[in-house]
Amino acid sequence: NKGKYEHYMQKEIHEQPESLTTTMRGRLKRGGSTKAKTVLLGGLKDHIKSIRRSRRIVFIGCGTSYNAALAARPIIEELSGVPVTMEIASDLVDRQGPIYREDTAVFVSQSGETADTLLALEYALENGALCVGITNTVGSAIARNTHCGIHINAGCEIGVASTKAYTSQIVVMAMLALAIGDDAISSQARREAIIDGLFDLPSMLHLAFSFNRSLDYKDLFYCTVVHLGKSNMFLPCIFADKVREVLKLDQEMKELAKLLIAEQSLLVFGRGYNFATALEGALKVKEVSLMHSEGMLAGEMKHGPLALVDENLPIIVIATRDACFSKQQSVIQQLHARKGRLIVVCSKGDAAAVCPGGSSSCRVIEVPQVEDCLQPVVNIIPLQLLAYHLTVLRGYNVDQPRNLAKSVTTQ
Ligand code: F6R
Repeated sequence: NKGKYEHYMQKEIHEQPESLTTTMRGRLKRGGSTKAKTVLLGGLKDHIKSIRRSRRIVFIGCGTSYNAALAARPIIEELSGVPVTMEIASDLVDRQGPIYREDTAVFVSQSGETADTLLALEYALENGALCVGITNTVGSAIARNTHCGIHINAGCEIGVASTKAYTSQIVVMAMLALAIGDDAISSQARREAIIDGLFDLPSMLHLAFSFNRSLDYKDLFYCTVVHLGKSNMFLPCIFADKVREVLKLDQEMKELAKLLIAEQSLLVFGRGYNFATALEGALKVKEVSLMHSEGMLAGEMKHGPLALVDENLPIIVIATRDACFSKQQSVIQQLHARKGRLIVVCSKGDAAAVCPGGSSSCRVIEVPQVEDCLQPVVNIIPLQLLAYHLTVLRGYNVDQPRNLAKSVTTQ
């Protein structure tokens, strides 16, 4: 049922405040007196110590699920201190790449039925790794055959292009990072800041009260107290809602889609947490709108892609505030110096800081700023909207793109 929406992809993009809420529900908890804020992932509780002690964490997936793991990789490395490597499932199997007993292999799959990911799982089990599943589908092959796991609880995704599952996967992996790093005193402040950031992402996150989070006047104004039946807990619903805020860019992204409708190609540059945003944004555009699009690591720009830059090729640069911001500013300057046709995704209020020659030199998409490791959840949404509108304007089938299936169960 598409409700008030014309397409499933559109519905699934717009329901992300709710899907993210269900992803987090019941998992963010107030701990004992020494740990004010913590994460509970029931499916992992008997294995979290083994994961912490593993020699390496290997993320394995395909397409959007791979991109979600790539977005979460830096925060997992930071909070766990365990080296993280990335594997595209088919490539791991093709190479028969090294997987050891001391490894934790994490299989990320919306459907839980992707053939390539299942083959990689079989291979990792044979090699004795601890296998963890992150899926959206209860009872799926990956959920059944891994040693333990986490369901992302994003709700059924019908559009072939994955949207809400992507943001829920990132949030689950951020919670995984928090759970693995839970015993480190040195990163407690960082973990608490991320948990506060998780509270600010979707609407109706019912846990703030049990958390004793300090609320500001704006929060309180939007607060609705909900009585949760027998549990006798009064929990406020916070509408400090960054995801809902970014969804308001819908019309702006439709206008941008009108400008890009006849283009042959689109580049997307990102780095750090948002390298994944570049890959995933480009994947969305190419798979549904059938426009060639490439996501690129901005740090690689001078090593080849710069040759493509001219006044015609549209280039999206992700330059929201984080430790890489000044590097992205200099990427923008270099693209600008070569007359690049720039579209910059930046944090709210940063238009002047990212546009070298003022607003005439580039188009700016301003998004709300959140904790750096959660920023990919916000940043992908304008690109999902762009892909959606481009497809509809170009007259293609947005829910069932040419040649693609929702679940790829053959090799
Ligand atoms: C892109 C997309 C695909 C899937 C990929 C893996 O929008 O949907 O790239 O992400 O086929 O599928 P799952 O996550 O079901 O293993």
